Amino acid sequence: MDLAGRHVVVTGAARGIGQALAARFHLAGAKVVLADRLDPTEAAAALPGAVGVVADIGTEAGNVELIRAAEDTFGPIDLFFANAGIGSGGDPMTDEDVWEQSFAINVHAHRWAARHLLPGWLERGEGYFCSTASAAGLLAQIGSAPYSVTKHAAVAFAEWLSITYGDRGLRVSCLCPQGVNTDMLRAGDASDDGVGATGTEVVKAAGVVLEPADVAQVVHQAIVEERFLILPHPEVAEYLRRKASDPERWLAGMRAFQRRFV
Ligand SMILES: NC(=O)c1ccc[n+]([C@@H]2O[C@H](COP(=O)([O-])OP(=O)(O)OC[C@H]3O[C@@H](n4cnc5c(N)ncnc54)[C@H](O)[C@@H]3O)[C@@H](O)[C@H]2O)c1
Repeated sequence: MDLAGRHVVVTGAARGIGQALAARFHLAGAKVVLADRLDPTEAAAALPGAVGVVADIGTEAGNVELIRAAEDTFGPIDLFFANAGIGSGGDPMTDEDVWEQSFAINVHAHRWAARHLLPGWLERGEGYFCSTASAAGLLAQIGSAPYSVTKHAAVAFAEWLSITYGDRGLRVSCLCPQGVNTDMLRAGDASDDGVGATGTEVVKAAGVVLEPADVAQVVHQAIVEERFLILPHPEVAEYLRRKASDPERWLAGMRAFQRRFV
């Protein structure tokens, strides 16, 4: 999709990957809405004509309000980028609210947005749904069951949308990066929004940490080409091939990698 003149909504756009995506789409000529539960005014102000909306996409009502606010501003949405996400450490014993928040923000938010966007898109015979999952959604996040599970679900949902509605004009892309230099990666240390100190160390050890602007560049190119799977770290494709071709060996390798951090 050529984004010039298109109406694009990006969630989680006050900072990090979302902010960089918004800036890249704005550069491509899109009318951009930056949504976040943090005030996105400053990020929006840097992009002339763009609009910031405070929205909590961790509820269905928050998604509905965001979609309404965006449509009131720029009309029908052409591309919705469900990028907002949270990470935390965790295992099956972790508090319910961590699991629930992870599902709400990393998975249900995608479903709620799609629920309210699809009818219009199918009627128009055109629409573009993008989501940010993670390489952890294809492989695994050592140290975090909630993150691994919800990011796998996000990939599965994006695949399902593409399979089900691809012949009816819906385009779908799913972004699956490894480490990106954002507050989420840095703050494993300082805030409960991080993947946890251990997770942060693991991500950094797993490979190169990219800058958000570089990720946004790769994403924009993929959207122009309407490609489903977006891998800013191309080596992830090889890891996925190894996992598929020999799961036992892949699991043993992951356990060996994990032992470096305990
Ligand atoms: N940074 C990485 O290494 C990395 C790697 C793979 C995937 N990701 C994914 O990329 C996406 C963006 O993360 P980031 O690294 O830019 O992190 P970040 O913490 O810098 O940005 C995430 C943004 O999402 C917003 N957000 C969280 N919950 C929200 C909610 N309920 N409603 C509205 N906004 C909400 C936050 O306020 C924040 O501004 C996430 O989905 C994350 O899981 C990040």
